[in-house]
Amino acid sequence: MPILRRDFLGGALAQTVSSKPVRIGFIGTGSRGTGLLRTTLAAGAAQGGVEIPAVCDINEAHLKRAQDLVEKSGRARPEGYSQGPEDYLRLVAREDLDAVINAGPWELHTPMSVATMKAGKYAATEVPAAVTLEQCWELVNVSESTGMPCMFLENVCYFRNVLAILAMIRKGLLGDLSHCEGGYQHDVRGALIWRDAARGTPGELSWRGLHYERSNGNLYPTHPAGPIGWWLDINRGDRFTQLVSMSSLSQGLNYYASTRFGADHRNAARTYASGDVNTSLIRTERGRTVTLYFDTISPRPYDLILRVQGTKGIYSGTLDKIYLEGVSPKKDDWEPAEAYFQQYEHPLWKRLAPVAKQHGHGGADFMELYEFIRAVKSRGPVPIDVYDGAAWSAIFPLSIESVAKGSQPVEFPDFTRGKYRTRKPVEA
Ligand SMILES: NC(=O)c1ccc[n+]([C@@H]2O[C@H](COP(=O)([O-])OP(=O)(O)OC[C@H]3O[C@@H](n4cnc5c(N)ncnc54)[C@H](O)[C@@H]3O)[C@@H](O)[C@H]2O)c1
Repeated sequence: MPILRRDFLGGALAQTVSSKPVRIGFIGTGSRGTGLLRTTLAAGAAQGGVEIPAVCDINEAHLKRAQDLVEKSGRARPEGYSQGPEDYLRLVAREDLDAVINAGPWELHTPMSVATMKAGKYAATEVPAAVTLEQCWELVNVSESTGMPCMFLENVCYFRNVLAILAMIRKGLLGDLSHCEGGYQHDVRGALIWRDAARGTPGELSWRGLHYERSNGNLYPTHPAGPIGWWLDINRGDRFTQLVSMSSLSQGLNYYASTRFGADHRNAARTYASGDVNTSLIRTERGRTVTLYFDTISPRPYDLILRVQGTKGIYSGTLDKIYLEGVSPKKDDWEPAEAYFQQYEHPLWKRLAPVAKQHGHGGADFMELYEFIRAVKSRGPVPIDVYDGAAWSAIFPLSIESVAKGSQPVEFPDFTRGKYRTRKPVEA
């Protein structure tokens, strides 16, 4: 029997939701893919059940770990696909799948998502969705031509503070917005040059490290660009138009390899294209500006920044504090944001927090997969679609281009082809 329900984001309209378990395949069951799989089992169980008929990974140990995980959850053991780098094509062709989630290396997200949509299934992809402008366009074109959605799994959009601030923006508490700042500021050196034998040969570059060896720009823009995109109605009234980018010198990976594996190790003397800190500035059509940092190869605490400001006030994610003129108790002084978060708590958080918090990124991973499964079950739109995935991921190639051109401005394509003027803002 179909269940009729009213729900968040894509679900402003009541939609008919299938009560049958949703059937999801997985491609890429490494560290993130395994986490997503575990969360998908819980997010699916919370809305009518989930089956995992098939999983794919070229690494036999990762594949077996995923099969064991599903079996231990009391479901049938999924069929495994590991016969080479294109074996995922056999998985997406199966007739017993509604959707396929991919979490492989960056450069494979677009081919895997495109193959999934062409096979008539809902796709969901890890971040970034694409690494070239051609891949961005391919995602958009294939989703439009097949009519199949691809959800961009930008979990930071579901952080509690991001959604509460979105509600406050919609209520006008921050006034007319002018500027946002964000960063992927996270020491990931251990995922670039393997440190841990369980993940790769210590001292060797990972697939991610190889990107840093050859590219100089913002190689991981979407964790901050996603929430900022929602706050600024990017692709929904406004759009990113122009970007300039500049990188610092590159020394962090040489230092890291030399101190961990010895000054004579070949990765200590290797030339890495990626600067230690990249800074990009984006302008939107409405004249808002965004500063983005990419800072991943120096020792540092994690900080996404997530600052947003307008004519009436400012929120700082780093401080987790807010200042609203005429509302905050002390003039020109921050106040803690928590009371506002409680007042403007998103319905998803109100409803799902106890279960969601048992999963990754403070519960945001559960929320995003819950929303993906809801979309698949209702055959409705996904809340973060190919236009968002393309516009936010395009910062990767555009920043590389700007850095290579001596920090000259580069133009964003309009992946919506004008539809951004009438697309509705994300609901808060
Ligand atoms: N949203 C988040 O918070 C978040 C967190 C971590 C990672 N990620 C993203 O998840 C993705 C995976 O990252 P990870 O850290 O798990 O990397 P990983 O190296 O641990 O996992 C990648 C997996 O893909 C497999 N693979 C490679 N080529 C394949 C192919 N052709 N077919 C099938 N499988 C293939 C590998 O064997 C490996 O198991 C990356 O895109 C990363 O950016 C996102």
